[in-house]
Amino acid sequence: MNLDYENVVDKILCSEEDIKSRIKIVARKIEEYYKDSERKLLLLGILKGSVVFMADLMKELHLPIEVDFMRLSSYGKGAVSTGNIVIKAGLERKDLSEYNILIVEDILDTGNTLYWLVDYLKQEHMCENIKICTLLDKPDRREKPISVDFGCFTIPDEFVIGYGLDYNELYRDLPYVGVLKREIYEK
Ligand code: PRP
Repeated sequence: MNLDYENVVDKILCSEEDIKSRIKIVARKIEEYYKDSERKLLLLGILKGSVVFMADLMKELHLPIEVDFMRLSSYGKGAVSTGNIVIKAGLERKDLSEYNILIVEDILDTGNTLYWLVDYLKQEHMCENIKICTLLDKPDRREKPISVDFGCFTIPDEFVIGYGLDYNELYRDLPYVGVLKREIYEK
């Protein structure tokens, strides 16, 4: 297997150093927001894309936190999500009303996934205070009225890979966020 990923990356959008320093800044904002809250804080990572970001963010947060994960899939996705969200792995706990929920995602793109998730958490898990933290925000493609509360980078409408984000399940392990070469996904 060839691990020379330079062949597939057109350019680096967010370097390892950029990501580290942005996570520190965002972590301070999150601490400031939650520090006086009476509720417990649950970081809810959405798999698989959030896995690298979640690991780095939680190490940087100087707050008592719990973590949990859901795996969601958007049927008929192809290059664009459709809004038909399916739970591949859900939460074991039903009542989360005693928690503040911070959803941790790699990217907010069309917004279909998170728009659906916020409503689901309110209806099915009695969540009241739900905030969204993402590594990347691609506002140009937004289809649903949803926005990031704690965001690291706003990016243009490019096909991005790395730091958790995949193309056909590959490249999640890249330590930076890069733009995928057009010839890779158009061939
Ligand atoms: C990605 C990402 C978000 C969603 C964002 O997940 O992790 O969950 O798409 O897109 P949207 O705003 O257009 O809904 P994906 O379904 O690719 O699964 P993965 O995290 O397992 O890669």
